Amino acid sequence: MTNRGLWCPLHNDGVNLGDAAIKGDTTNPGLSCPPSRRRFSHPRTPHPRGCGVLPRYRARMSQDTEKKVAAEAAALLVEDGMRVGLGTGSTVAFLLPAIAARKLDIRCVATSVQTEEAARALGLTVENAAEVDRLDLAIDGADQIAPDFWLVKGGGAAHTREKIVAAMAERFVVIADSSKLVPRLHAPIPLELLQFGLQSTLRLLQSVTLRDVPPSPDGNVIADYSGAIGGPDALEAWLSSVPGVVAHGLFQPALVAEVIVGRGKKAESLKRAF
Ligand code: 5RP
Repeated sequence: MTNRGLWCPLHNDGVNLGDAAIKGDTTNPGLSCPPSRRRFSHPRTPHPRGCGVLPRYRARMSQDTEKKVAAEAAALLVEDGMRVGLGTGSTVAFLLPAIAARKLDIRCVATSVQTEEAARALGLTVENAAEVDRLDLAIDGADQIAPDFWLVKGGGAAHTREKIVAAMAERFVVIADSSKLVPRLHAPIPLELLQFGLQSTLRLLQSVTLRDVPPSPDGNVIADYSGAIGGPDALEAWLSSVPGVVAHGLFQPALVAEVIVGRGKKAESLKRAF
């Protein structure tokens, strides 16, 4: 099978996938892109309408559009004079320039070194979180958002600081693409664990995997709980009760004032019924 005439947008140098299939990979005749030009792993069977990268590329592009529209809608909630908490992640990466572009007189607290550096580079004022007792608004992404507003956060390993910043804020707003809306929470649940007594903490937690990432900025170990979730209330209480667990990625609905979700090119606001 060849895919003549199809275009792969991931190849900036403009590879025509049909030609690539003919001239390129002889080890897998069905694979449309030459190995030297592959920047992403391809499936072993070709997509009927392209090289297989195309559908994933399109999905990522539409996810990015949704992240951007949600982030830009949330940026409009920021007002002159506010103290604002800035989350961490790829959705927040769209938020920072949108806030900076508004040229407001605001002071920010960042939930990670990455966010702090990016915010400062955009001209935003970032304060030391240790010296701030409350925020007007905090905006952050999420990995999972359940219909009852329970969240899972910490895909970027910043959940400990993110939870502190969310709790500091009068209003915590979550921004996300629509893939983050889930019917019910599922594993993994990110954890931050104290290095001291780590083997014992792991034994008590049982279903947990250490994540292959550097320690948190507070020197702790990042891991993921992969056991049963059951009710998030019970899991939250249990995880919080295990000595050595600094923080987990379950965020209670009571923390969340609003979720702004991107759906296609539109942002939709979801508010919790109190
Ligand atoms: C980082 C987080 C992020 O907010 C969460 O992982 C969502 O990330 P992204 O916006 O990249 O999808 O909790 O610890």
